[in-house]
Amino acid sequence: MRKNSVKTVPFLDLKRGYEIYGKEIEKAVVEVLRSGRYLNGEKTRLIEKTLAEFLGSRFAIGVSSGTEALYLILKALNLPSGSFVLLPSFTFVATAEVVVRAGLVPYFVDVEEDTYNLSPDALVETYENLCRQGKKISAVIAVSLFGIPARMNTISAFCKEKGLFLIEDICQAFGAEIDGKKVGTFGIASATSFYPSKPLSTCGDGGMVFTDDERLAQKIRVLKEHGQTAPYYYEYSGINGRIDEIHAAILLVKFPYFKKELGLRKKLAALYFEALKEIKEIKLPVISEGVSPSYSLFTIRAEKRDNLKGYLKEKGIHTAIYYTLPLHLQPVYKRYGFKKGDLPVTEKLAGEVLSLPFFPYMEEEEALYVVQKIKEFYREK
Ligand SMILES: Cc1ncc(COP(=O)(O)O)c(C=O)c1O
Repeated sequence: MRKNSVKTVPFLDLKRGYEIYGKEIEKAVVEVLRSGRYLNGEKTRLIEKTLAEFLGSRFAIGVSSGTEALYLILKALNLPSGSFVLLPSFTFVATAEVVVRAGLVPYFVDVEEDTYNLSPDALVETYENLCRQGKKISAVIAVSLFGIPARMNTISAFCKEKGLFLIEDICQAFGAEIDGKKVGTFGIASATSFYPSKPLSTCGDGGMVFTDDERLAQKIRVLKEHGQTAPYYYEYSGINGRIDEIHAAILLVKFPYFKKELGLRKKLAALYFEALKEIKEIKLPVISEGVSPSYSLFTIRAEKRDNLKGYLKEKGIHTAIYYTLPLHLQPVYKRYGFKKGDLPVTEKLAGEVLSLPFFPYMEEEEALYVVQKIKEFYREK
């Protein structure tokens, strides 16, 4: 709905950002193309340095996607084969998929309804149950979903006490903070994604690993180059997991806009919070004191969610559901023995969540139109 009430609001419109910095991106990409250096060059080194500084992490390693970033962390940690990795079921499939690929067992833990993230209580309970069954647990992956930080202080203290590696999946939360400390700096390592819809994104795929651990960083650098430790000499079984110079160059152009875009995301979220809080059929996420989300998405819980989604669509408003079927109930993870009812909060959320149109360059008028139509739906229902 840009100017004068054309009644359609996109869920995400990346072209609007491109209108602002597109020319700079095109110049930077042409520069790379003309340079003849397409991999492991200056742009990659510079974006690694820039983002490590921003996050407050000693090392950053550019990789080909968020998925590979997660995989490389697990692989580099060399966790005991077949050991359990605890993670939320309410997340994108990549968080679990990499665990299987690394020869480990993904074990799903319930989340909190207020933040949509790993419940520290459920984490303790699951850990104790598994210990009683004699299972070996080696790591926890905490996801900060939709850009809202998980309870990283509590989760990190628990992992330290139990000697578990804590890995952060910040693919949706780059730039989020807890009391001024960036998410992605609470565990042994973290993984982010530069997929186009993410808070800091490229025009395609890309990702990054962050860690303060020098040995781990070195190993990940080797593993992302097929495990090569000297020319054509392979000490480990690795992957081709590099980021390329074109994506690094695009990220270097976009990063200076990122802080402003975070501000725009927060402003838009504040508008939604204020305008939606009076609707009793809607529940909003709870943002605790000191928590600063990066809002990759704006996700509410709604009564009669599917009807509301259909109604909004009729009014030209595009919404999305992340995620309709939680991972513990997906056919691919059946073999781990979870059944319906095992993770009640996760399952409840899957039936209630609705992500509203949300992106930095969305207009206030568009958000107000979304709110107006949500109100109309509940009045008419
Ligand atoms: C929570 C989460 N984890 C992992 C990923 C994987 O990132 P990528 O798409 O860059 O592989 C994504 C994003 O797509 C994600 O949202």
